[in-house]
Amino acid sequence: MSFRLQPAPIDRPNRCQLFGPGSNTKLFAKMAASDADVINLDLEDSVAPSDKDVARANIIQAIGEHDWGNKTISVRINSLDTPYWYRDVVDLLEQAPERLDQIMIPKVGCAEDVYAVDALVTAIETAKGRSKKINFEVIIESAAGIAHVEAIAASSPRLVAMSLGAADFAASMGMQTTGIGGTQENYYMLHGENRHYSDPWHWAQTAIVAACRTHGVLPVDGPFGDFSDDEGYRAQARRSATLGMVGKWAIHPKQIALANEVFTPSDAAVAEAREILAAMEQAKANGEGATVYKGRLVDIASIKQAEVIVKQSEMIAKG
Ligand code: COA
Ligand code: MG
Repeated sequence: MSFRLQPAPIDRPNRCQLFGPGSNTKLFAKMAASDADVINLDLEDSVAPSDKDVARANIIQAIGEHDWGNKTISVRINSLDTPYWYRDVVDLLEQAPERLDQIMIPKVGCAEDVYAVDALVTAIETAKGRSKKINFEVIIESAAGIAHVEAIAASSPRLVAMSLGAADFAASMGMQTTGIGGTQENYYMLHGENRHYSDPWHWAQTAIVAACRTHGVLPVDGPFGDFSDDEGYRAQARRSATLGMVGKWAIHPKQIALANEVFTPSDAAVAEAREILAAMEQAKANGEGATVYKGRLVDIASIKQAEVIVKQSEMIAKG
């Protein structure tokens, strides 16, 4: 480890972020009763321009009205290139109950985007005497966002999570794709006659994970559009989990169980991690820094890998 230690991210489960349009009030009770760890009430792209005012009022009312249990409640505001975002922030911070945990800022392109929202939020929090400081999450979904991802991850002490938004990202990058996440027909390697599909989202995801881990922010995978394709969702989520992401969005309730399944370490994985920790304890007692577990090398780095799995499992169990 560098002399500068890697900061720990916020200690909360973030396996599934369930989205619902702020204009669709009949979804709120269902979202509150769901098994999602994070609720994202949307003011942005799932709400028509003519519905922005009513969606704001709906969300402010719903936050106070429903029993959200111990879920994280986040509201996605409009992006900073629109005329809506300041009113989103002002109304939420002036009127939403203290139960509101977080604001999600979409289409962030530079650290200053977060700075601007931080300045406004801080002023209103102080003016209104709000006792709970609002956290931020951001979406990386543009060429500028990924180019400036590290500065964005470092932009504010309020920032706790960062997602990849595949559809807007693909459009901004000029990628020849249509689906939201997942396998792309034309992204393959040839081996003889056989096509081997590669992952066009891999680089962006890994860049986000590195920026997030450097600055103690949770890296999260964004939406998977085809909600009739469970195996496609699982495959995408498993790749994200392997790369270090802690969760994924659900744009339909049937994706919640899939996310929870993939991002909860399995009993077998936790048992193996504990065995590795026990093997290393034994090695330490014998004055050794490395030992053999099931025919393979484990050493001091293996302790840290095993601890990631055990800690994640304990944090989720705690709820
Ligand atoms: N949260 C909670 N419940 C939801 C839900 C959501 N996001 N989306 C649908 N449901 C409910 C429906 O109300 C329905 O409930 P019922 O069985 O009591 O009638 C059930 O789940 C099945 O829904 P279904 O008929 O399959 O879908 P739909 O046609 O009602 O809605 C979408 C489909 C995609 C329009 C809807 O899921 C949605 O709005 N998703 C979120 C979109 C969003 O927020 N996008 C922004 C982020 S990318
Ligand atoms: Mg988007």
